[in-house]
Amino acid sequence: RTVDLDSAIADKAGHRHYMSKEIAEQPDVLANALEYYAGDNEGGQMLEAGVDFSAFDRVVMVACGTASLACLVSKYWVEQIAQMPVDVDIASEFRYREAPLDARTLAVFVSQSGETADTLAALRYATGKAGKVVSVVNALESSIARESDLALPILAGPEIGVASTKAFTCQLAVLASLALQAGRQRGTIDPAQQRLLTDQLRQVPGQVAQALAIAPQIKAVSAQLARYDHVLFLGRGALYPLALEGALKLKEISYIHAEGYASGELKHGPIALIDEEMPVVVLAPHDGMFDKTVSNMQEVMARGGKIVMISDGPGLKDGGDGAWQKVEMPTIDGPFAAIAYAVPVQELAYFTAVEKGTDVDQPRNLAKSVTVE
Ligand code: G6P
Repeated sequence: RTVDLDSAIADKAGHRHYMSKEIAEQPDVLANALEYYAGDNEGGQMLEAGVDFSAFDRVVMVACGTASLACLVSKYWVEQIAQMPVDVDIASEFRYREAPLDARTLAVFVSQSGETADTLAALRYATGKAGKVVSVVNALESSIARESDLALPILAGPEIGVASTKAFTCQLAVLASLALQAGRQRGTIDPAQQRLLTDQLRQVPGQVAQALAIAPQIKAVSAQLARYDHVLFLGRGALYPLALEGALKLKEISYIHAEGYASGELKHGPIALIDEEMPVVVLAPHDGMFDKTVSNMQEVMARGGKIVMISDGPGLKDGGDGAWQKVEMPTIDGPFAAIAYAVPVQELAYFTAVEKGTDVDQPRNLAKSVTVE
């Protein structure tokens, strides 16, 4: 018995759960993945040789669960950086919708396991219709990897916790590299912008490490959240999909009912739910959208809502008045802030679940890989 316990702890590298081990691994696996896809390295060459964005007019991205939220983040990047329209769809809808595809469409399928039944069926639908089928996978020996024209590994290493964490951020690293390549090949960013964006992307692992260092703040907020039955998450721009991810993670592992919304949608419905019994987590980096997000926050507070504000130093200083809880993230310039904001989002769910005593690594009714429809 003792031996079993010891080896179980060894597997988790001293962590109580795989999820916390996998959250902690993110700076290292991200640095690896970004290095692999940078410029002249193997992955960079594979991207350059494998995808020519100037040959396509649009991108269609398809996935399930957390992977589909990675696609949604990258929609913001590809559209902004490469001026290329991106449609994101969940695989269970896409596979039956008879969506029009043609040779000028690049189809991208994102899956940690590479075996998700709906995503595989969606890939088979696109094969022969889209100009090229690219997959972004953790398991290179998987069906989705095998059946695509080009399979891009995310290099996250084995992910055991059912709730995806390091696979999500590594998917984002690969998709960000793709967005930069798209901008370069389509000539929508000049060399100076390319250098700046590449530099900002290289800073991500360090920012993620800094975000991990604020765990005590997240833990304190989680001890509070665990007492509530409903939580709302808000974000704008590339932080909107992170709000969706925050809500998904919280419901998956702590069983607290949570919804994510684009901040601007607040007044079109969810504001009716606001009272002191439903905390609202706001992802609000001090970026170009900050003032808009703060005004949404104020609408919540004016109705007695409790705000958990996750922002950086300048953001908390400018907009943090009246917030119920504050979490201070590092200051991050550029479009890739969403990657580091995955950390507080994952940890809020993790610490809340630990506080509630739920089964973090194997939440009820969920499977790591859903290979049946
Ligand atoms: C399951 C897992 C999720 C995952 C989703 C898609 O629902 O619990 O964590 O995001 O499947 O899995 P995939 O392997 O295709 O990324």
